[in-house]
Amino acid sequence: MHKISIEAPAKINLGLRITGMRADGFHSLESIFSTVTLSDKIEVSMDRNAAGISLECSGVFSPAGEDNLVWKTAKAFMDETSTTGGVTISLHKSIPSPGGLGGGSSDAAAVLLALQKLTHSEADMTAIAERLGSDVPFFLLQTGAALVRGRGEILEPVHLPHFHCVLVHSGENIPTPMAFKLWDEYKGDLTEACHISNYTALKFGVWHEGKPFPVKLDNHFLSLLHSRFPGVTRTAEELSRLTVNWGLSGSGPTFYTLFRSEVEAREAEDHLAGKFPWVFRCQSR
Ligand code: C5P
Repeated sequence: MHKISIEAPAKINLGLRITGMRADGFHSLESIFSTVTLSDKIEVSMDRNAAGISLECSGVFSPAGEDNLVWKTAKAFMDETSTTGGVTISLHKSIPSPGGLGGGSSDAAAVLLALQKLTHSEADMTAIAERLGSDVPFFLLQTGAALVRGRGEILEPVHLPHFHCVLVHSGENIPTPMAFKLWDEYKGDLTEACHISNYTALKFGVWHEGKPFPVKLDNHFLSLLHSRFPGVTRTAEELSRLTVNWGLSGSGPTFYTLFRSEVEAREAEDHLAGKFPWVFRCQSR
């Protein structure tokens, strides 16, 4: 029996623009993903003399057994690489879900990487990753940050300035499919222009105290969610009083604020703690 312990990091979206609808029914996007120092912890062990997949979950709620993406990931790996044996997974979740932080996708990528190592498999995991979820290829790449396009499969690693951040959950339940459905139904109502990821700004922009982060942090989902989720509006208002460097991650409902120094981030954390159901201070990886 061999065992591997692995961390599955959360990501935040430094801007998110929905650029169209694809033939496969998914939306194409443009976003900069950056991993942060909030992570789930996963232990994966494999016994060649056993059979089946067992999953034990702790921490933040996550569905048990076959409903969990982690379980489906192990099953997909075993089937597609024709591997036999028993897989035991222990998942300790800290990343809220749904949160817009890619927690489930990151767990899936971590399990693929762990199983690949345990079985010495040389199979390419990219196709399995894409089938499991749009954000899984990003986490499989294990890069700190990337410009992400397509459904999530077109990845270009980027270097970002190091940042400290405070994550804030509005307390509302906004599953990703619901947010995309809202986009399909109401995008025509949006009047404000939203442009992001002027990536060249990263190369030339310098991030000084009090100045905006060198990537536009607008998120297409934000205007849609404002009118439907009062917690989203309250969070956005509170954060915009603190700094210009704030944004919504993914399809929400987690927001982030970015700071250059840990001192500023700590001050923000103290200010926000108690006002929202979940506040977490971390930094870029
Ligand atoms: O790929 P993932 O499991 O994260 O997607 C969940 C749901 O979100 C999809 O079934 C789809 O409705 C929507 N989605 C989308 N376009 C994307 C990502 C997700 O329409 N790029």
